[in-house]
Amino acid sequence: MDFKQRITSAILTAIQSAFGETDLTADTILQGLEIPPEPKLGDYAFPCFKLAKSLRKAPPMIADALKGALQADFLDHVDSVKGYLNFYIDRALYAGTIVKEVLESNGRYGSGDEGSGKTICIDYSSINIAKRFHIGHLSSTMIGHALAQLYRFRGYRVVSINHLGDWGTQFGKIVCAYKMWSDRETVERDGIEEMTRLYVRFEQESHEDKALAEEGRRWFKRIEDGDPEALEIFNWFKDVTLRDAARVYDLLGVHFDSYAGESFYNDKMAPVVEELEWKGLLTESEGAKIVDLEPYGMPPCLILKKDGATLYATRDLAAAFYRKKTYDFAKCLYVVAYQQDLHFRQLFKVIDLMGYDWYRDMEHVSFGMVSFGGEALSTRGGHVVYLEDVLKNAIVKARDIIEEKSPGLENKDEVARQVGVGAVVFFDLYNNRIKDISFEWDRALNFDGETAPYVQYTHARCCSVLRKAGPGAGEQADYAALTDPEAQDVVRVLEQFPGTVSEAIARSEPSLVTRYSVDLAQAFNKFYYEHRIMGDDKNAQAARLNLTDAVRQVIRTALSLIGIQAPERM
Ligand code: ARG
Repeated sequence: MDFKQRITSAILTAIQSAFGETDLTADTILQGLEIPPEPKLGDYAFPCFKLAKSLRKAPPMIADALKGALQADFLDHVDSVKGYLNFYIDRALYAGTIVKEVLESNGRYGSGDEGSGKTICIDYSSINIAKRFHIGHLSSTMIGHALAQLYRFRGYRVVSINHLGDWGTQFGKIVCAYKMWSDRETVERDGIEEMTRLYVRFEQESHEDKALAEEGRRWFKRIEDGDPEALEIFNWFKDVTLRDAARVYDLLGVHFDSYAGESFYNDKMAPVVEELEWKGLLTESEGAKIVDLEPYGMPPCLILKKDGATLYATRDLAAAFYRKKTYDFAKCLYVVAYQQDLHFRQLFKVIDLMGYDWYRDMEHVSFGMVSFGGEALSTRGGHVVYLEDVLKNAIVKARDIIEEKSPGLENKDEVARQVGVGAVVFFDLYNNRIKDISFEWDRALNFDGETAPYVQYTHARCCSVLRKAGPGAGEQADYAALTDPEAQDVVRVLEQFPGTVSEAIARSEPSLVTRYSVDLAQAFNKFYYEHRIMGDDKNAQAARLNLTDAVRQVIRTALSLIGIQAPERM
């Protein structure tokens, strides 16, 4: 039984003995318990204002009376201050309880099963065919991956979806350009580079040459009509793009359950458009079909172009219905940059207007831009920073640092990969997701800052302490050894982990977990510098080793939730 529950029943008993029978329930009391902002105000606090009405007394009087009536051996003492009851848990018991709770859950501390039986669809990364993965895609990929991990940790079934951008007139142009100016070997060899070259050349030449532009449109029509040759080339372009992306996904440790992208919905839009029609939601505007969203302060949602062609929104609409039908999701998240805020507001509104209240279960998890050394990353501006290059560069830099700091390390390449990739991911997930961030090498790879290497290093330090102590050294721990302020602080941060996970999910904000990992590392390092872990008193030493082990496990879990690995030696 945790402390909140124990305090709750102690309060309930005290109410009965001080005020007689009451209709107050354990639940009301549990809900009211708070964790004070400062440790000096106790480990938990209960505001007696909530009882004033049913007990018909002033809160300070209630607090005084309850303080007198309270009996609990797990408490060091209780204070009554201005209508608040402040509870101070016995320090040794507090440390022992939390540390044991962490160790007994075997790396699953903070997990839960509240999601059992529920499915969450997460649409993330969602790259575009014939385009390279640039650093701007990192946020979508890693925020989405972290959310997927967090939900799984709480027992949900997660369907991770890469909603590929694999539809549009540009693909007709690239296929057309390929037929004229390229060949199989070049595309196989240069991949997306060659596709980009072809596209750029086509755009330049078709600008002057109207017949060429027409030829590009014809090739797109052929793809649309399922012409075997056109489809074969297009699908092969898709494979080449995905092969490229797979290298990045492998480095990041990211996997998808579904690659159903825009083209997947080719044959699934008609019923949705018909439904919009018979529900009277479609109106004509200059030949196009739209859903008027003026009453909701938004521009119209375009459903069909004048020539009957479908749009990005039409496909997303079909995708939403498909996902609801196929997965019966409890939630469907879209991890997409803030530029598409309007698109998703429109999408959700249209589903609302169609009369489906599950539009409430859809959420746009929006995020800001990543720039690189202050420069924005636009394809048009010419300055494009590719994610694969950034990751490779990070690995090389990490490798240099490792070579310098621990030349004797065995698996340097493996560790360099974990640290280098971790540094980039951590940097991306450190700030509130809606903030724009500017990537800086020095900051990302700093072993002393708020970085992955710092947290990973702390984890490796814990591993090293535990290795030296050997197995079984944590038995018969005397938790009275953990009553100093530094150890207590570590325990307090450990206790906050489950709540941090809950909040990260509730707010779709993985950065809470990233920051948490820094808090825990800092608290532990402070303890580590102030206290000797190994000492003459074996039982006290065992308690400090168990605390170290708990920190090791929780850092490892926290990092894995945000997609970062924790090497045991660095
Ligand atoms: N491919 C799009 C882009 O790169 C993102 C797609 C997001 N997902 C969606 N269902 N619209 O901008």
